[in-house]
Amino acid sequence: MDRVDQLVDELTLEEKLRLVRGAEDPDGTATGYVPDVERLDIPSFRLVDGPLGVRAEGKRSTAFPASLSLAATFDPDLAREQGAAMAREAKAHGQDALLAPGMNLLRVPNCGRNFEYLSEDPHHAARFAGELVAGIEGESVVATAKHYVANNQETGRTEVSAEVGERALRELYLPAFRAAVGAGAGSVMTAYNRVNGTHMSDHRRLLTDVLKGEWGFDGYVVSDWYGIESTVGAANAGLDLEMPGVPVAAPEGEEVDMGSIDGIPDGTKAGLFGEPLAEAIGSGEVPEERLDDMVRRVLGAMARTGALDGERDDGALDTPEHRALAERVAARGTVLLENDALLPLDEDATVAVIGPNVGEPKLGGGGSSETTPFRSVAPRDGIENRAEGSVTVERGIDAIEDLSLFDLLPFVDGGHGDGGEADDADEERPEPSLSDAVAAAEAADVAVVFVRDATTEGRDRESLRLPGEQDELVEAVADANDRTVVVVNSGGPVELPWREEVAAVLEAWYPGQADGSSIASVLYGDRDPSGRLPVSFGAEEEYPTADEERYPGIDDEARYDEGVFVGYRAFDATDTEPAYPFGHGKSYAEFRYGEVETDGSTVGVEVENASERAGREVVQAYVRPPAAPEGVERPVRELAGFESVEVDSGESQRVEVELDERAFARYDPEEGWTTDPGTYTVEVGRSSRDIRVTAEFER
Ligand code: NOJ
Repeated sequence: MDRVDQLVDELTLEEKLRLVRGAEDPDGTATGYVPDVERLDIPSFRLVDGPLGVRAEGKRSTAFPASLSLAATFDPDLAREQGAAMAREAKAHGQDALLAPGMNLLRVPNCGRNFEYLSEDPHHAARFAGELVAGIEGESVVATAKHYVANNQETGRTEVSAEVGERALRELYLPAFRAAVGAGAGSVMTAYNRVNGTHMSDHRRLLTDVLKGEWGFDGYVVSDWYGIESTVGAANAGLDLEMPGVPVAAPEGEEVDMGSIDGIPDGTKAGLFGEPLAEAIGSGEVPEERLDDMVRRVLGAMARTGALDGERDDGALDTPEHRALAERVAARGTVLLENDALLPLDEDATVAVIGPNVGEPKLGGGGSSETTPFRSVAPRDGIENRAEGSVTVERGIDAIEDLSLFDLLPFVDGGHGDGGEADDADEERPEPSLSDAVAAAEAADVAVVFVRDATTEGRDRESLRLPGEQDELVEAVADANDRTVVVVNSGGPVELPWREEVAAVLEAWYPGQADGSSIASVLYGDRDPSGRLPVSFGAEEEYPTADEERYPGIDDEARYDEGVFVGYRAFDATDTEPAYPFGHGKSYAEFRYGEVETDGSTVGVEVENASERAGREVVQAYVRPPAAPEGVERPVRELAGFESVEVDSGESQRVEVELDERAFARYDPEEGWTTDPGTYTVEVGRSSRDIRVTAEFER
């Protein structure tokens, strides 16, 4: 008998119950805490946020770029490295499980948490989810795949029901989770929302039948915080661990009323796996074997990571390698949207750095993924450090305030104020002046304007336009200097109405602590901007979710009746030209594609760098299916593989891309996964709308 089985044998009922419900962390650093059982030498177990770095309470950690920025690298090896680095930092803070990665599909461009997620494409999301998980678990830390499933919006997130068909679930929303399980995730977190009427914490079919049954998941299912809705329902559905298990405490004399704030779970509801579970087991409503299974899963995860036997190294924090990685990922994820031969910048050029927040790094969005770094570089410092020519700095307009979920919560301090940067900077700042910004732009060889949005967990963006007067600022600067570059920091797609009036546009997402240095390295051409868009950029009304019934839904129901036509699949189906398509991103180098060959499982293509500079190309392989049977609609093309490669100037490289057959098969609710016989076309190119070469294969 192994140690876990033996422990399950020896534990008393009361001890078992304590292992499936969170408790207060005596150290106060963890986001979730499972108490120890001293009698049997079972150590305590700590769970900590989150996807952009470790958010141990009161501690500092490397602030990595947003997950969306990582995904924009189109280089899953970097995901493995970042996962491993975050796990080492979790260990250094004495934590056992990381509440990451987030992997919900980018269905709604407005979603306030898109920056924590990976892609609008399921194959792309699955590749990154898998590598992140492998990186975390490889360092003996439990990875938590979240939020299972269809948590695609923050508006009404604790109540809304995603009314989604089986085909879309299988083809779009489940693949990243399946990949996470395949890569060895020790934990899966349930989403707050309902799916087809049933709360995810109560969803027996998706938790027990699909996740644990079909996919063979042997880790534990943890609730999202205060996201458990019932005792018997959740226990019998397959939920294994309630978090945080203890209710929020109101300061003395204050009433607790949390049930009514949109996007905020009711923190007074906790302890459903405490006494109520004991009673349900006593009455037989929940079989005791189910409790044993929960305990076995929690202890199993502890055993696998070595936490159960205390066999684990101490990790590492803020090392030179972690800092360098945070910078490399931020630079590699930066997407060059436009470039009229202005970039890379000449080092001797005089530069006007303009923008309401140029003195602060854009670390991330608000909520449970906020990290407080040891060090960070603001955009203005990054450019001042790198430029050889003189640099002037102007804010132009009032600062864009970061939003934080924590500011919406009663009785909780925190939010972005923790780092203190924004607040300190405020006091020293002179009033911004638009005319000074315009004058600075006129006087300089080049104007670099930094603009940003503000997103947070718990709120969606009301509009895809940049907040405040930033569009006006860009227009005024572009009028004053036709060598204007705009660097956009956004947590998802944004509308950029001036995009054709400026010389260059970069999408740098939320770059984390290395903001200024990474963007300077791209602007000056020390690195090729090798990011590609993991999400289509269009006008808000062009997305399928522009319909109120689909988003945010009516009467707590969001109808996913666009089916599989999400993201570029929707733009293609309606023949709408997006501002920037999925997969788009320019390079400073220029690539030529040779003939393509395929046997249907791999695609080989020769890529030549026909420019004077070394560069990085992301070769993307889409598959166009043959005509589907009557009554079945198929996307025009689906991403089935990609490969990011560095090619030296004048060199050619043969690139092999493996095709994921599932990525272009369709899910038939009766037959399951189906590959229709016929002729398939592989389209190889630089984006979903820039196909360079094609080949065919039969199935
Ligand atoms: C709620 C968020 O949805 C989840 O992602 C996070 O891990 C928990 N809170 C804990 O902070």
